[in-house]
Amino acid sequence: MSSKNTKRAKPKDVRTTKAVLKEEEDPFGSLQNSSINPNAPRFIDLFCGIGGFRIAFEKVGGTCVFSSDYDKFSQQSYAANFGEKPHGDIHEVAVADIPAHDILCGGFPCQPFSIAGVSKKISLGRGHGFDDIKQGNLFFSLADILDYHRPAAFVLENVKNLKGHDKGKTFRIIHDTLTKALGYTVYHKVIDAKSVVPQHRERIFLVGFREWRHFEFPKFPDEGPKLGSILEPRPDPKYTLSDHLWNYLQNYAAKHKAAGNGFGFGIVTGSDTTRTLSARYHKDGSEILIAQKGKNPRRLTPRECARLMGYPDSFKIEVSDTQAYRQFGNSVVVPVVERIAKAVADTLKRTAAKPEDLVLYDKHSANSEAIFKSQKPVKYPKRKSNSKSP
Ligand SMILES: C[S@@+](CC[C@H](N)C(=O)[O-])C[C@H]1O[C@@H](n2cnc3c(N)ncnc32)[C@H](O)[C@@H]1O
Repeated sequence: MSSKNTKRAKPKDVRTTKAVLKEEEDPFGSLQNSSINPNAPRFIDLFCGIGGFRIAFEKVGGTCVFSSDYDKFSQQSYAANFGEKPHGDIHEVAVADIPAHDILCGGFPCQPFSIAGVSKKISLGRGHGFDDIKQGNLFFSLADILDYHRPAAFVLENVKNLKGHDKGKTFRIIHDTLTKALGYTVYHKVIDAKSVVPQHRERIFLVGFREWRHFEFPKFPDEGPKLGSILEPRPDPKYTLSDHLWNYLQNYAAKHKAAGNGFGFGIVTGSDTTRTLSARYHKDGSEILIAQKGKNPRRLTPRECARLMGYPDSFKIEVSDTQAYRQFGNSVVVPVVERIAKAVADTLKRTAAKPEDLVLYDKHSANSEAIFKSQKPVKYPKRKSNSKSP
């Protein structure tokens, strides 16, 4: 695998002349699509973290052909569970070196778009969203890969706030890039994981198809499991808060309440659904504290966090508690992605010639989010180092 950006400047066209010819005769790509085995789609796992997408797509028969994450502790967890160390910084990978694939998966980093990230950067006088050079560029790395490889579908995940960020401008740029610049049909939906795990966690999913496809997001049950179903019976006493930390949290909450601010810890019992587990949970655990009779409340254990994110108990946790909390707090909820993966695989199994797959926008459908009406023309800001050969 090439490791320098200079290698990206002129990626060679990895397709055969025949494939290029076929594609030219077939602008919607249905001939190319016929090479997919929809029962065993090849997918790539970008910004893979600890592999939430991978578990989900492997469950629907997928084979992962490439993974990337530059965090060494996430790489450690990924390697322990999938026997493969993900490639590092995506900027360092030549687009042409990424294997051909049918589905691109990626929970691209949410910091530049989350309310907390944005307000922190504003208070530090720094840019946000696409103005953030280091993080904001990552969506465009992903767009370059779509542009070069033209996979049949993609599934992207981000924080719910992505849609409202910067008065909707960020989302419009992302959506326009995917639809108008790259030609994908895109559907999006905010899904709350609380119907499949005992955690309120809203995330936006964008699903795109290279060909025009009618796609419906899966239905989720109205009622989800409660916290009691994932708690360990005898957690290590080290997870019980010290008197010092518990007093501190109570005083802090009281101070904020008096000032009319919203800070408060989230005490829960087995019959509750928790707040959203964050990557900062290791700091004080204040968002999810479990009430204990006659004792200070306790934090969740790393295994309970894994379950809260829908990871199976066979998932190996071989990093420190701090890293484990951070990794699960950054992850996707596996059973949510599993349902989406199945819906995507089922959609790819239908022949594209079916009339419903040629409907771009159905105004009667509850899921008719295929077209995002945007007033302004899009400029696709391609990075020089990443651009496809003419
Ligand atoms: C929101 S997390 C995604 C977690 C993942 N979906 C999961 O299920 O665990 C974003 C990930 O992007 C990784 N990341 C950020 N910048 C990166 C870069 N330039 N190259 C590769 N990975 C990067 C971070 O290390 C982090 O693990």
